[in-house]
Amino acid sequence: MKRFLKIDKKIDSFKKTINVEGDKSLSIRWVLLSLLSEKKSVAHNLLMSEDVISALNCVKALGAKVKFYKNKCEIIGKGMNINIQNKLTLNAGNSGTLGRLILGVLINTNKKVKIIGDKSLSKRDFSRVTRPLKKFGAKFNTKKNLPVEIVGTKSPRSIYYTENRGSAQCKSAVMLAALKSEGTTIIKAKKSRDHTELMFKFLKIPISIKKSNYKYDFIKVKGVKKIGPLKYKIPGDISSCAFFIVLTILSKNSELLLKNININPSRVGVVKILKLMGAKIKLLNIRFYRGEKIADIFVKSSRNLTAINCPTKYNSNAIDEFLVIFLIAAKSKGISNFKNLAELNQKESPRLKWASKILNSMGVKNVTTNNSIKIYGNPNLVVKKNIIIQNFSKDHRVFMMSVIAALTFGGKWKINDLDSINTSFPKFLNILNKLSPKI
Ligand code: S3P
Repeated sequence: MKRFLKIDKKIDSFKKTINVEGDKSLSIRWVLLSLLSEKKSVAHNLLMSEDVISALNCVKALGAKVKFYKNKCEIIGKGMNINIQNKLTLNAGNSGTLGRLILGVLINTNKKVKIIGDKSLSKRDFSRVTRPLKKFGAKFNTKKNLPVEIVGTKSPRSIYYTENRGSAQCKSAVMLAALKSEGTTIIKAKKSRDHTELMFKFLKIPISIKKSNYKYDFIKVKGVKKIGPLKYKIPGDISSCAFFIVLTILSKNSELLLKNININPSRVGVVKILKLMGAKIKLLNIRFYRGEKIADIFVKSSRNLTAINCPTKYNSNAIDEFLVIFLIAAKSKGISNFKNLAELNQKESPRLKWASKILNSMGVKNVTTNNSIKIYGNPNLVVKKNIIIQNFSKDHRVFMMSVIAALTFGGKWKINDLDSINTSFPKFLNILNKLSPKI
């Protein structure tokens, strides 16, 4: 039976310190790169969510050995050549990152591999990765959506590729294929999260990155025959933090310290945008780990929030956090504008549409197109209505946005598909309970 959550009371004030679970992007990349090393890779604090479990199941099906010891996961991979006995079906579940990146990993498989996924993933566009990956010499069926079938090529050839969407998934799929190719692949990539680049650098894979002040980076990756094992302590996920940051900002007399969070500049747009809107957020104890920037994040209840004309340069850096950023806009003085966000409708659900629906049901005026949203903020907004949130393709972030809205604006909410949180943040409710045992 589908579980749901009922909330009919705002959260009481809290002053707490929390840890959130490991970063999803880093966890999935660690699993896939571990498959490509013949030696033992070790991860601490690997996110144990459904997306990452799907990744572990895929690499096991491809021959990797996976073991767990408490908070530690070990993978002994298969090396760069993945030879399988028979054709195979791999299930990427709900994960776009896994479904797309694994196609890069499979560029040189000897047998046909079919990628399938759940209902939401099966609606998403895979041609954005199969198109560049074809140029390496692999063969794909021509469908845009899952199931996608790939037959690899024995000797992938390097390519020149322009990535125009600011999609780290497309960039990373190509980088993984490049790793297995003869020669040097050149990628002109619109700026997006750079975890794959940083992991490649740490593994001493020949990669050069020319960053420009303009929109694009130039990345060169040279194929290699072997990669070393990857030992990694995965920091907390800023995308998971964002829900608690916004909860704290919108709650009365509250403070929260979030420990050991990845604040990679390509991910920290949410903090920059919220600060521009007047939120009280501090990054403390900043340090570096394997090229990633890490910090503790301190956040306080914030009044006098102001609307924003959100600079589009932050779009890719905050792409997974906009749903909760829109809640801050709803509580701000003035009219906020968010533009060039067509990619938001390409996620687990059409998120711009969902943001608009939820804001409408809260009584927040908004004007939404297929790539923008204008939100008419109201600092005195109190919601008193009955609100039911359902049929949102089980999008974990739509569920969590709704919970934060219910706990901070009031109203009587019934939010369906509670199990959606297992995709990215299984401990979401446990942490909420730590802040307020009554939820
Ligand atoms: C991700 C990249 C982003 C993001 C997704 C995770 C990644 O997607 O929305 O949640 O780990 O590379 P796009 O690459 O489609 O922008």
